[in-house]
Formats: sequence, C-alpha cells, structure tokens
Amino acid sequence: MKLGFLTDLHFRNAVPGTSSIEKRRCRQMGDVLCRNLKLLKNEGVDLVVCGGDLVDEPDHPAALKDLAELRRIFDEAGVPTLVIPGNHDPHPDDFYKIFKRPDRVLRIGDIELITFCEDVPLTGAEDSERQDLAGMEKLFAKNSRDVRHTVVVQHYIIYPPIDSEYPYNYRNFSAIRAIMEESGRSIFSLSGHYHRGFDVIEKNGVSYFCGKAMCEEPFPCYTVDLSGDEIEVREL
Ligand SMILES: [Fe+2]
Repeated sequence: MKLGFLTDLHFRNAVPGTSSIEKRRCRQMGDVLCRNLKLLKNEGVDLVVCGGDLVDEPDHPAALKDLAELRRIFDEAGVPTLVIPGNHDPHPDDFYKIFKRPDRVLRIGDIELITFCEDVPLTGAEDSERQDLAGMEKLFAKNSRDVRHTVVVQHYIIYPPIDSEYPYNYRNFSAIRAIMEESGRSIFSLSGHYHRGFDVIEKNGVSYFCGKAMCEEPFPCYTVDLSGDEIEVREL
C-alpha cells in the first residue's frame, strides 16, 4: 500500500491578497495542487492524504468558495483522498459540509489509518489538545495481528517538541505519545502544520513524520510506501 501526502496549501483565490508571509505562494496553490496530484497518481498511490491548512484565511466570507474549488481539484484527480482541516481552515462542522468527513478508522489491505480530524485550536489559543484520550486508548489497545502498520493522521505535531514561541505541539502530546507507545502497534504518525517539516524520527517504537508546507518552495508532496516492514518516505 502506498500513500500520497501533501499539506499546508494556504490557498487563496476567491479570497483576495496573499499571506503576509511572502514565501507562502497562496495564489499559485490551485495549479500546484493539480500538478502534485498528477505526480502522485503517476506514482500509483492508493490514497492521497491532505494534512490541513487548505485555505489561508478561515474567517473570510470567500474561504468556503476556495475550499469548494480545492474539493473540485481533488475530485478531478481520479485518486481517492482523505482530507483533514488545520488551524487555518473553517471549523470541522463547516469544513465537512464541503469535504467528505473521514471515518475514524479506515482499513486498506493490511494498513489501518486512524484519523483525528476534529482537533481544533483551543479557544483564545493557537495550540490544540486532543479531547477523547479514553476513546483513543480504547481504539489503540485493539492490536490486530493482520495490521502491518497503523498510520495516525492529524494536523498538529505530537513529537518531537518544537522549540518555538509559536505552539506547534499538542498541549497534551505526552499523553498521546504514551497511548501510541503502549499499544504495541507499528505506528507511523503523519502531521503537517510545522512548515519546515522534518524527516522520519523514531522514538520508543513510534515513527513521526511532518511534511514540509506545499505552499513554499519547492512545493513538495510525498509518497509513503507501507508495503514492507520498513516504511519508505520519498519527497517529490
Ligand atoms: Fe497549521
């Protein structure tokens, strides 16, 4: 099984202007998304995961129009997609009026994808906190032998702690880590949000990966090959 991954588009088209952070090429993201979805389709991926921050200004009245435009581009790519919102997107209740809300658990062959698409910034803050840890613990405790790898999808960073004034990590990242480490599963954690990204980091048996933002040069996307015991990530 092979995944495609891309994250942090910060698209603006109906929403005017661009990001105050100049290197974010918000207005080119429609074209870049078309190109990257074509690349991933040619790589033969079974599913493309998008890690959030599809648009740039969630509160602008035209943001939903931009989301609908992205939905159209994803739909026309001819490859299945799993899309989650980030902190720059409208609230999941509005976001999933446009995109299809993924199930918590998706099984593809011997891979289980577990998606946390409801994690939003806490009121008056910029970081997030996973709410239903008891539910997460129960889910991860089921460790079926015929699941080779579990892919955990979310926008925010679980590990490593990012040393920055801006909060990239979940407030309760330690508790999330503990659940994953104790599960006995082979876990590959997939995040966006931290635009510099980082290569796969293994800690106590769990692998963590963060994709670089697609809105910044070189406008990357990734393949994640899960067909062997070793997981291979490639940047395109
Ligand atoms: Fe973000």
